[in-house]
Amino acid sequence: MLSEVRRAAAIQAIHELDHFKKVEWFSEVDSTNRYLARECRSGQFPIPSLIVTDRQSRGIGRGGNTWWSPDGCLMFSIAMPWSQRDRESAKLPLLAGMAVAQTITQLAHGRAYVKWPNDVYLEDRKICGILMESSARIDENSHDICIIGIGINCCVDFSNAPEELRSTAISLHETFGSRIEEAITPESVLLHFLNRWIAVHEEWRSDPQWIQSNWESWDWLSGRMVEVTLPDRVIQGVASGIDSTGALIVIDRFGRNERVLSGTVRPIVT
Ligand code: BTN
Repeated sequence: MLSEVRRAAAIQAIHELDHFKKVEWFSEVDSTNRYLARECRSGQFPIPSLIVTDRQSRGIGRGGNTWWSPDGCLMFSIAMPWSQRDRESAKLPLLAGMAVAQTITQLAHGRAYVKWPNDVYLEDRKICGILMESSARIDENSHDICIIGIGINCCVDFSNAPEELRSTAISLHETFGSRIEEAITPESVLLHFLNRWIAVHEEWRSDPQWIQSNWESWDWLSGRMVEVTLPDRVIQGVASGIDSTGALIVIDRFGRNERVLSGTVRPIVT
């Protein structure tokens, strides 16, 4: 758990970014996404706002999964207006993944990539999960809100983790070997991320093609054989980047382009 002094210093540094109207850092909440959605709906949190927690009792993942939320996992959620442009494109989640991958690459001894739509991988293992949720405005004076929840394994010990995570997840500190580095405290990772997030958002605002133009260099799936489970069928093919809406392009064995807007994608190891 972060000491009061470190927590206060982190909040101060976040305020100095001059981006969020409200910032809170808790010892424990049920889920930062749930908490922030409730508070925004009841008008307690102005937009944009940020909450961070040391622990979650009921962390949630995509597809209704549980997010294992141990000590050493940096867990936070950002509430921001959900604009018409965000609604029309599926690209905001991709942008969040790119900002995390850039952050991890700056800090880790290794290169991070985004597995479409927005899991972040380091050394072919998952280091970060992102859950984006939206909620409609409550009256004409409020915004439609989007909540971006992010969990980054900073200093996580997986020895007590659920079985399937032990071989598929990684923590940032593992790339440093036995050296303890200042750079991997949760608050420094958060500050690096927030700086990247504000910067990439600005890039995207001034250049609507920015995500598509930069996606290839962060794309973990590119060129891999994948299997995509859709609600009504399963497709197999080669992952071939994204289109202008952020949909994943999969080229099947007949050379047909399939556009994937949502679904579970897993690489096929041959
Ligand atoms: C996934 O990969 O399934 C997404 C995981 C998202 C986890 C984060 S942790 C902070 C925020 N609060 C939650 O309850 N979930 C997200």
